[in-house]
Amino acid sequence: MSLTMDDRNGAIWLDGQLVPWRESRLHVLTHALHYGSAVFEGERIYDGRVFRLSAHSARLIRSARLLDYDLPWSREEIDEATRAVVKANQLTSGYVRPIAWRGSEVMGVSAIGTTVHLAIAPWAQEGRLSVLAREAGISMTMAKYRRPSPDMAPGQAKVAGLYIVCGIEKDRALKAGFDDALMLDWEGRIAESTGANIFLVIDGKLVTPKPENFLDGITRRAVMGMARKRGWTVEERAVMPAELADASEVFLCGSAAEIVPVGSIDQHHYQAGPIAKTLMADFQKLVREPDCEGFGEATHLMTEAPPLAA
Ligand SMILES: Cc1ncc(COP(=O)(O)O)c(C=O)c1O
Repeated sequence: MSLTMDDRNGAIWLDGQLVPWRESRLHVLTHALHYGSAVFEGERIYDGRVFRLSAHSARLIRSARLLDYDLPWSREEIDEATRAVVKANQLTSGYVRPIAWRGSEVMGVSAIGTTVHLAIAPWAQEGRLSVLAREAGISMTMAKYRRPSPDMAPGQAKVAGLYIVCGIEKDRALKAGFDDALMLDWEGRIAESTGANIFLVIDGKLVTPKPENFLDGITRRAVMGMARKRGWTVEERAVMPAELADASEVFLCGSAAEIVPVGSIDQHHYQAGPIAKTLMADFQKLVREPDCEGFGEATHLMTEAPPLAA
């Protein structure tokens, strides 16, 4: 079987139709390819259903709004299209990548005059967490680039262009023998990894950076909900790098990653401890609950996106 992403059997939902996988193509003069204007999501299928589907579809629409464009499909239509394409590919577990982008009618920095497209591609892919990572945790290093300030970029949006720095830092980490990189924000506070949010356990409390201008993850919200349900204290606040020395456990969380213990961040070493392990087990139950497709704790995505900053 081919391993490349473009040479597979199956169907991709593309602009309202199920299109054979290999025929889901676009033109080289597409605005999003040149100027990073695509918005996307990463979702996971558990027992045939997409965890927090409505929250992801809503975030996709919000991300586009934050770039000043509207998707020509409603949240409900995107949910329905996702269910249809997952079913068409006969997937009971895997990953889903919805992506919306501005097309090829005109070429220039301005996207005015382009049409908006949407594709939804699901494929079989298990959680990224290897047995080793589950036991020993992943190894991380500090990133050099930082997450931008709110007056530099719309950091709450999941926009292709904002992933440039994540990609550079992920590659830099992998080439240096680490699994991932930890990024600071514009003020030197801990922000997130290149594709997931971060939690620290300090003095028995769960501590996570307040997402001032980076992705307020749907999994992050689920983790906070699970922890509070267990009666654990969760603090959302500014977290400084010096506090890495005070943590007894560190873990990442995100749709693709699920919950991943961190074994080290440069000179700091951690155990995959009881709090991360309990949350990992709780999470596997949560993603299979009957109402798992809804918004859950991701209430921040229930309201419409604010208008583009003036
Ligand atoms: C940069 C970044 N931060 C955080 C997250 C976690 O977000 P979520 O839990 O909504 O998948 C992701 C994954 O989408 C990400 O790419």
